[in-house]
Amino acid sequence: MKGKMINIAQPSFLGNEKKYVLDTLESGWISSIGKYIECFEKAFAEYHGVKHAIATHNGTIALHLALAAAGIKKEDEVIVPDLTFIATANSVRYCNAIPVLTDVELDDWNISPADFRKKITARTKAIIPVHLYGNPGRIREIMEVARAHQLIVIEDCAEALGAKYNGNNTGTFGDIGCFSFFGNKIITTGEGGMCITNNDELAERMRILRDHGMNRCRKYWYDHLGFNYRMTNMQAAVGLAQLEQLNDFLEIRDHIYNRYMNRFRSSPEIILQSVHEQRNVNWIFTLRIKDITLTGRNALMEDLKLKEIDSRPVFYPIHQMPFYQHSDFIRGEFPNSTTISQEGISLPTYIGLQDKEIDYVADAVFESVQKNAS
Ligand SMILES: Cc1ncc(COP(=O)(O)O)c(C=O)c1O
Repeated sequence: MKGKMINIAQPSFLGNEKKYVLDTLESGWISSIGKYIECFEKAFAEYHGVKHAIATHNGTIALHLALAAAGIKKEDEVIVPDLTFIATANSVRYCNAIPVLTDVELDDWNISPADFRKKITARTKAIIPVHLYGNPGRIREIMEVARAHQLIVIEDCAEALGAKYNGNNTGTFGDIGCFSFFGNKIITTGEGGMCITNNDELAERMRILRDHGMNRCRKYWYDHLGFNYRMTNMQAAVGLAQLEQLNDFLEIRDHIYNRYMNRFRSSPEIILQSVHEQRNVNWIFTLRIKDITLTGRNALMEDLKLKEIDSRPVFYPIHQMPFYQHSDFIRGEFPNSTTISQEGISLPTYIGLQDKEIDYVADAVFESVQKNAS
Protein backbone atom coordinates (compact mmCIF):
# COMPACT_ATOMS: atom_id res chain seq x y z
CA MET A 1 0.00 0.00 0.00
CA LYS A 2 3.03 2.29 0.11
CA GLY A 3 2.82 5.74 -1.42
CA LYS A 4 -0.84 6.48 -1.04
CA MET A 5 -2.56 7.59 2.14
CA ILE A 6 -5.84 5.79 2.74
CA ASN A 7 -8.08 8.68 3.69
CA ILE A 8 -10.69 8.52 6.42
CA ALA A 9 -13.28 9.82 3.94
CA GLN A 10 -13.46 11.24 0.45
CA PRO A 11 -16.27 12.31 -1.82
CA SER A 12 -17.24 10.59 -5.05
CA PHE A 13 -18.46 12.57 -8.07
CA LEU A 14 -19.20 10.05 -10.79
CA GLY A 15 -22.75 11.11 -11.63
CA ASN A 16 -24.25 14.31 -13.05
CA GLU A 17 -22.41 16.67 -10.68
CA LYS A 18 -20.26 18.41 -13.29
CA LYS A 19 -23.08 18.64 -15.84
CA TYR A 20 -25.50 20.23 -13.37
CA VAL A 21 -22.91 22.65 -11.91
CA LEU A 22 -21.91 23.74 -15.40
CA ASP A 23 -25.58 24.36 -16.09
CA THR A 24 -25.80 26.72 -13.09
CA LEU A 25 -22.69 28.60 -14.27
CA GLU A 26 -24.02 28.92 -17.78
CA SER A 27 -27.43 30.03 -16.55
CA GLY A 28 -25.93 32.63 -14.21
CA TRP A 29 -28.13 31.37 -11.35
CA ILE A 30 -25.35 30.68 -8.89
CA SER A 31 -26.71 32.06 -5.63
CA SER A 32 -29.80 31.01 -3.73
CA ILE A 33 -32.35 31.26 -6.53
CA GLY A 34 -32.47 28.62 -9.24
CA LYS A 35 -34.10 25.43 -10.39
CA TYR A 36 -31.68 23.05 -8.66
CA ILE A 37 -32.68 24.22 -5.19
CA GLU A 38 -36.31 23.40 -5.89
CA CYS A 39 -35.42 20.09 -7.60
CA PHE A 40 -33.08 19.01 -4.80
CA GLU A 41 -35.59 19.89 -2.08
CA LYS A 42 -38.38 18.10 -3.93
CA ALA A 43 -36.31 14.96 -4.55
CA PHE A 44 -35.09 14.92 -0.94
CA ALA A 45 -38.65 15.24 0.39
CA GLU A 46 -39.82 12.48 -1.96
CA TYR A 47 -37.01 10.18 -0.89
CA HIS A 48 -38.16 10.56 2.72
CA GLY A 49 -41.87 10.54 1.93
CA VAL A 50 -42.37 13.89 3.69
CA LYS A 51 -44.15 17.08 2.66
CA HIS A 52 -41.32 19.58 3.05
CA ALA A 53 -37.56 19.79 2.62
CA ILE A 54 -35.79 23.10 3.28
CA ALA A 55 -32.19 23.33 2.06
CA THR A 56 -29.63 25.24 4.12
CA HIS A 57 -26.02 26.29 3.79
CA ASN A 58 -24.75 23.62 6.21
CA GLY A 59 -25.92 21.09 8.78
CA THR A 60 -25.14 23.20 11.85
CA ILE A 61 -27.47 25.96 10.79
CA ALA A 62 -30.09 23.37 9.75
CA LEU A 63 -30.21 22.47 13.46
CA HIS A 64 -30.33 26.12 14.51
CA LEU A 65 -33.05 26.89 11.96
CA ALA A 66 -35.12 23.95 13.23
CA LEU A 67 -34.78 25.06 16.86
CA ALA A 68 -35.55 28.69 15.99
CA ALA A 69 -38.63 27.69 13.97
CA ALA A 70 -39.77 25.50 16.87
CA GLY A 71 -39.63 28.60 19.09
CA ILE A 72 -36.75 27.51 21.33
CA LYS A 73 -35.63 30.55 23.29
CA LYS A 74 -33.59 31.82 26.20
CA GLU A 75 -33.60 29.55 29.27
CA ASP A 76 -35.52 26.74 27.54
CA GLU A 77 -33.90 23.36 28.08
CA VAL A 78 -33.09 21.04 25.19
CA ILE A 79 -31.84 17.52 25.80
CA VAL A 80 -28.82 16.51 23.71
CA PRO A 81 -26.50 13.52 23.86
CA ASP A 82 -23.12 14.02 25.53
CA LEU A 83 -21.47 12.03 22.73
CA THR A 84 -21.95 13.83 19.44
CA PHE A 85 -20.34 16.36 17.15
CA ILE A 86 -20.19 19.74 18.89
CA ALA A 87 -22.72 21.37 16.52
CA THR A 88 -25.62 19.50 18.13
CA ALA A 89 -25.11 21.25 21.46
CA ASN A 90 -23.89 24.54 19.97
CA SER A 91 -27.08 24.97 17.96
CA VAL A 92 -28.99 25.05 21.26
CA ARG A 93 -26.61 27.69 22.63
CA TYR A 94 -27.21 29.82 19.51
CA CYS A 95 -30.83 30.12 20.77
CA ASN A 96 -29.52 31.09 24.25
CA ALA A 97 -31.20 27.92 25.46
CA ILE A 98 -29.66 25.28 27.74
CA PRO A 99 -28.34 22.04 26.22
CA VAL A 100 -28.90 19.44 28.94
CA LEU A 101 -26.29 16.78 28.30
CA THR A 102 -27.39 13.17 28.53
CA ASP A 103 -25.40 9.96 28.60
CA VAL A 104 -25.62 7.49 25.73
CA GLU A 105 -26.24 3.75 25.62
CA LEU A 106 -23.17 1.55 25.68
CA ASP A 107 -24.56 -0.67 22.93
CA ASP A 108 -25.69 1.66 20.14
CA TRP A 109 -23.83 4.82 21.37
CA ASN A 110 -26.98 6.91 21.09
CA ILE A 111 -29.04 8.86 23.60
CA SER A 112 -30.31 6.72 26.45
CA PRO A 113 -34.13 6.91 26.78
CA ALA A 114 -33.81 5.91 30.45
CA ASP A 115 -31.25 8.64 31.20
CA PHE A 116 -33.01 11.38 29.27
CA ARG A 117 -36.34 10.69 30.99
CA LYS A 118 -34.64 11.63 34.29
CA LYS A 119 -33.40 14.94 32.86
CA ILE A 120 -36.83 16.30 31.92
CA THR A 121 -37.92 19.34 33.96
CA ALA A 122 -40.71 21.91 33.62
CA ARG A 123 -38.35 23.91 31.38
CA THR A 124 -37.57 21.10 28.94
CA LYS A 125 -38.94 22.01 25.52
CA ALA A 126 -37.16 19.73 23.07
CA ILE A 127 -34.78 16.86 22.53
CA ILE A 128 -32.24 16.33 19.75
CA PRO A 129 -31.53 12.62 19.33
CA VAL A 130 -28.48 12.01 17.13
CA HIS A 131 -28.08 8.89 14.98
CA LEU A 132 -24.35 8.62 15.61
CA TYR A 133 -22.04 7.33 12.87
CA GLY A 134 -25.10 6.50 10.80
CA ASN A 135 -26.49 4.09 13.42
CA PRO A 136 -30.09 4.93 14.40
CA GLY A 137 -30.87 5.34 18.07
CA ARG A 138 -33.87 3.88 19.90
CA ILE A 139 -36.12 6.40 18.23
CA ARG A 140 -39.41 4.65 19.04
CA GLU A 141 -38.72 4.72 22.79
CA ILE A 142 -37.40 8.28 22.53
CA MET A 143 -40.57 9.38 20.73
CA GLU A 144 -42.77 7.72 23.37
CA VAL A 145 -41.08 9.61 26.22
CA ALA A 146 -40.94 12.85 24.23
CA ARG A 147 -44.62 12.74 23.29
CA ALA A 148 -45.64 11.91 26.87
CA HIS A 149 -43.90 15.15 27.93
CA GLN A 150 -44.94 17.22 24.88
CA LEU A 151 -41.36 17.73 23.78
CA ILE A 152 -40.42 18.83 20.29
CA VAL A 153 -38.16 16.24 18.65
CA ILE A 154 -35.48 17.38 16.22
CA GLU A 155 -33.56 14.41 14.86
CA ASP A 156 -29.91 15.09 14.05
CA CYS A 157 -29.41 12.91 10.98
CA ALA A 158 -26.23 14.66 9.85
CA GLU A 159 -24.46 11.31 9.67
CA ALA A 160 -27.43 9.10 8.90
CA LEU A 161 -28.96 9.87 5.50
CA GLY A 162 -30.66 6.68 4.32
CA ALA A 163 -30.62 5.01 7.73
CA LYS A 164 -33.80 3.29 8.80
CA TYR A 165 -35.42 2.29 12.05
CA ASN A 166 -38.08 -0.38 11.85
CA GLY A 167 -38.33 0.20 8.08
CA ASN A 168 -38.77 3.98 8.30
CA ASN A 169 -36.19 6.62 7.42
CA THR A 170 -34.48 8.46 10.23
CA GLY A 171 -35.50 12.09 10.19
CA THR A 172 -39.18 11.21 9.70
CA PHE A 173 -39.97 10.21 13.31
CA GLY A 174 -39.56 13.58 15.01
CA ASP A 175 -41.03 16.99 14.19
CA ILE A 176 -38.01 17.97 12.09
CA GLY A 177 -35.07 15.97 10.73
CA CYS A 178 -31.77 17.76 10.02
CA PHE A 179 -29.04 16.60 7.64
CA SER A 180 -25.50 17.63 6.70
CA PHE A 181 -23.87 17.48 3.28
CA PHE A 182 -20.31 18.27 4.38
CA GLY A 183 -17.60 16.70 2.19
CA ASN A 184 -17.34 13.53 4.30
CA LYS A 185 -21.07 12.85 4.55
CA ILE A 186 -23.22 10.18 2.84
CA ILE A 187 -23.90 12.68 0.07
CA THR A 188 -22.16 16.03 -0.19
CA THR A 189 -22.67 19.52 -1.55
CA GLY A 190 -19.33 20.79 -0.21
CA GLU A 191 -21.05 22.50 2.69
CA GLY A 192 -24.79 22.02 2.93
CA GLY A 193 -27.73 20.93 5.00
CA MET A 194 -31.45 20.15 4.92
CA CYS A 195 -34.42 20.21 7.28
CA ILE A 196 -37.38 17.91 6.61
CA THR A 197 -40.83 17.99 8.16
CA ASN A 198 -44.47 17.09 7.63
CA ASN A 199 -45.56 20.10 9.63
CA ASP A 200 -46.73 22.94 7.30
CA GLU A 201 -46.33 25.62 9.96
CA LEU A 202 -42.78 24.64 10.91
CA ALA A 203 -41.83 24.42 7.23
CA GLU A 204 -43.18 27.90 6.52
CA ARG A 205 -41.36 29.34 9.54
CA MET A 206 -38.09 27.68 8.47
CA ARG A 207 -38.45 29.08 4.94
CA ILE A 208 -39.04 32.58 6.30
CA LEU A 209 -36.24 32.48 8.90
CA ARG A 210 -33.81 31.01 6.34
CA ASP A 211 -34.35 34.11 4.18
CA HIS A 212 -33.68 36.91 6.73
CA GLY A 213 -37.22 36.63 8.11
CA MET A 214 -38.63 38.22 4.98
CA ASN A 215 -42.39 38.20 4.44
CA ARG A 216 -43.13 35.63 1.71
CA CYS A 217 -45.60 37.97 -0.06
CA ARG A 218 -43.90 41.33 0.47
CA LYS A 219 -40.37 41.75 -0.81
CA TYR A 220 -37.93 43.44 1.63
CA TRP A 221 -40.45 43.44 4.47
CA TYR A 222 -39.19 41.66 7.56
CA ASP A 223 -41.64 40.50 10.22
CA HIS A 224 -39.00 38.53 12.14
CA LEU A 225 -35.32 38.59 12.91
CA GLY A 226 -34.08 35.94 10.48
CA PHE A 227 -30.83 34.66 9.03
CA ASN A 228 -29.20 34.11 5.67
CA TYR A 229 -29.11 30.30 5.88
CA ARG A 230 -29.86 29.63 2.21
CA MET A 231 -28.24 26.98 0.05
CA THR A 232 -26.83 28.06 -3.30
CA ASN A 233 -28.05 26.75 -6.64
CA MET A 234 -24.52 25.39 -7.24
CA GLN A 235 -24.59 23.41 -3.99
CA ALA A 236 -28.06 22.10 -4.85
CA ALA A 237 -26.85 21.06 -8.34
CA VAL A 238 -24.19 18.86 -6.73
CA GLY A 239 -26.71 17.64 -4.15
CA LEU A 240 -29.26 16.57 -6.74
CA ALA A 241 -26.62 14.62 -8.67
CA GLN A 242 -25.44 12.99 -5.44
CA LEU A 243 -28.98 12.10 -4.38
CA GLU A 244 -29.50 10.33 -7.71
CA GLN A 245 -26.69 7.97 -6.65
CA LEU A 246 -27.77 7.51 -3.02
CA ASN A 247 -28.98 3.92 -3.34
CA ASP A 248 -25.70 2.89 -4.98
CA PHE A 249 -23.72 4.73 -2.31
CA LEU A 250 -25.63 2.93 0.43
CA GLU A 251 -25.00 -0.47 -1.16
CA ILE A 252 -21.27 0.24 -1.32
CA ARG A 253 -21.30 1.41 2.30
CA ASP A 254 -23.07 -1.84 3.27
CA HIS A 255 -20.35 -3.80 1.52
CA ILE A 256 -17.58 -1.91 3.38
CA TYR A 257 -19.46 -2.40 6.66
CA ASN A 258 -19.81 -6.15 6.11
CA ARG A 259 -16.17 -6.56 5.13
CA TYR A 260 -14.95 -4.73 8.24
CA MET A 261 -17.50 -6.63 10.37
CA ASN A 262 -16.27 -9.98 9.07
CA ARG A 263 -12.79 -9.09 10.30
CA PHE A 264 -13.72 -7.52 13.63
CA ARG A 265 -16.94 -9.25 14.71
CA SER A 266 -15.44 -12.17 16.57
CA SER A 267 -12.39 -10.45 18.00
CA PRO A 268 -12.37 -10.35 21.84
CA GLU A 269 -10.42 -7.07 21.85
CA ILE A 270 -12.99 -5.21 19.80
CA ILE A 271 -16.43 -3.88 20.66
CA LEU A 272 -18.76 -2.78 17.88
CA GLN A 273 -21.72 -0.44 17.82
CA SER A 274 -24.75 -2.70 18.05
CA VAL A 275 -27.46 -2.69 15.43
CA HIS A 276 -30.95 -3.74 16.50
CA GLU A 277 -34.06 -2.81 14.52
CA GLN A 278 -32.10 -0.45 12.32
CA ARG A 279 -30.41 -0.05 9.02
CA ASN A 280 -27.02 1.42 9.85
CA VAL A 281 -25.63 3.40 6.90
CA ASN A 282 -22.00 3.06 8.02
CA TRP A 283 -21.11 6.72 7.77
CA ILE A 284 -17.61 6.09 9.14
CA PHE A 285 -16.85 2.61 10.42
CA THR A 286 -16.06 3.07 14.09
CA LEU A 287 -15.11 0.55 16.76
CA ARG A 288 -13.95 0.40 20.34
CA ILE A 289 -10.76 -1.27 21.52
CA LYS A 290 -11.71 -2.90 24.79
CA ASP A 291 -10.10 -1.25 27.85
CA ILE A 292 -7.61 0.76 25.79
CA THR A 293 -6.38 3.96 27.45
CA LEU A 294 -6.45 7.34 25.76
CA THR A 295 -2.68 7.10 25.30
CA GLY A 296 -3.03 3.59 23.86
CA ARG A 297 -5.71 4.73 21.43
CA ASN A 298 -3.53 7.63 20.30
CA ALA A 299 -0.60 5.22 19.83
CA LEU A 300 -2.85 3.04 17.67
CA MET A 301 -3.68 6.05 15.50
CA GLU A 302 0.04 6.83 15.18
CA ASP A 303 0.76 3.21 14.16
CA LEU A 304 -1.93 3.46 11.49
CA LYS A 305 -0.51 6.74 10.26
CA LEU A 306 2.91 5.13 9.81
CA LYS A 307 1.17 2.65 7.53
CA GLU A 308 -0.44 5.53 5.65
CA ILE A 309 -3.88 4.95 7.11
CA ASP A 310 -5.87 7.95 8.24
CA SER A 311 -8.10 7.49 11.29
CA ARG A 312 -10.05 9.65 13.74
CA PRO A 313 -10.75 9.53 17.45
CA VAL A 314 -14.40 9.22 18.42
CA PHE A 315 -15.83 12.65 19.35
CA TYR A 316 -14.82 13.86 22.80
CA PRO A 317 -17.77 14.05 25.22
CA ILE A 318 -19.32 17.50 25.14
CA HIS A 319 -19.19 17.78 28.96
CA GLN A 320 -15.37 17.86 28.71
CA MET A 321 -15.32 20.98 26.52
CA PRO A 322 -14.22 24.03 28.53
CA PHE A 323 -17.23 26.12 27.55
CA TYR A 324 -19.69 23.34 28.49
CA GLN A 325 -18.31 22.86 31.99
CA HIS A 326 -21.23 24.66 33.56
CA SER A 327 -23.64 23.23 36.08
CA ASP A 328 -26.67 24.09 33.94
CA PHE A 329 -25.49 21.73 31.22
CA ILE A 330 -23.94 18.98 33.32
CA ARG A 331 -26.40 17.11 35.48
CA GLY A 332 -25.19 13.70 36.54
CA GLU A 333 -22.47 11.44 35.22
CA PHE A 334 -21.52 10.34 31.72
CA PRO A 335 -19.67 7.04 32.14
CA ASN A 336 -20.76 5.57 28.81
CA SER A 337 -19.92 8.52 26.59
CA THR A 338 -16.57 8.85 28.38
CA THR A 339 -15.69 5.18 27.80
CA ILE A 340 -16.81 5.09 24.17
CA SER A 341 -14.93 8.29 23.43
CA GLN A 342 -11.73 7.02 25.02
CA GLU A 343 -11.82 3.61 23.37
CA GLY A 344 -13.27 4.57 20.01
CA ILE A 345 -11.54 4.96 16.69
CA SER A 346 -12.96 5.62 13.22
CA LEU A 347 -11.51 3.89 10.16
CA PRO A 348 -11.49 4.77 6.45
CA THR A 349 -14.95 4.52 4.90
CA TYR A 350 -15.78 5.98 1.51
CA ILE A 351 -17.05 5.17 -1.95
CA GLY A 352 -14.05 3.83 -3.86
CA LEU A 353 -12.35 2.16 -0.89
CA GLN A 354 -11.02 -1.16 -2.19
CA ASP A 355 -11.44 -4.56 -0.50
CA LYS A 356 -7.67 -4.96 -0.27
CA GLU A 357 -7.46 -1.59 1.48
CA ILE A 358 -10.14 -2.62 4.00
CA ASP A 359 -8.19 -5.82 4.71
CA TYR A 360 -4.96 -3.83 5.02
CA VAL A 361 -6.59 -1.45 7.52
CA ALA A 362 -8.02 -4.34 9.56
CA ASP A 363 -4.64 -6.13 9.61
CA ALA A 364 -2.94 -2.91 10.74
CA VAL A 365 -5.45 -2.46 13.59
CA PHE A 366 -4.91 -6.04 14.83
CA GLU A 367 -1.14 -5.77 14.55
CA SER A 368 -1.02 -2.56 16.57
CA VAL A 369 -3.48 -3.78 19.23
CA GLN A 370 -1.53 -7.01 19.71
CA LYS A 371 1.82 -5.20 19.79
CA ASN A 372 0.58 -2.74 22.41
CA ALA A 373 -1.05 -5.50 24.49
CA SER A 374 2.12 -7.61 24.65
C1 LIG B 1 -23.90 14.78 14.40
C2 LIG B 1 -23.63 16.02 13.61
N1 LIG B 1 -24.44 17.07 13.77
C3 LIG B 1 -24.26 18.21 13.07
C4 LIG B 1 -23.23 18.34 12.18
C5 LIG B 1 -23.01 19.66 11.51
O1 LIG B 1 -23.05 19.62 10.13
P1 LIG B 1 -22.17 20.64 9.24
O2 LIG B 1 -20.76 20.21 9.33
O3 LIG B 1 -22.74 20.45 7.87
O4 LIG B 1 -22.39 21.99 9.77
C6 LIG B 1 -22.37 17.27 11.95
C7 LIG B 1 -21.30 17.40 10.96
O5 LIG B 1 -20.24 16.95 10.96
C8 LIG B 1 -22.56 16.07 12.70
O6 LIG B 1 -21.75 15.03 12.55
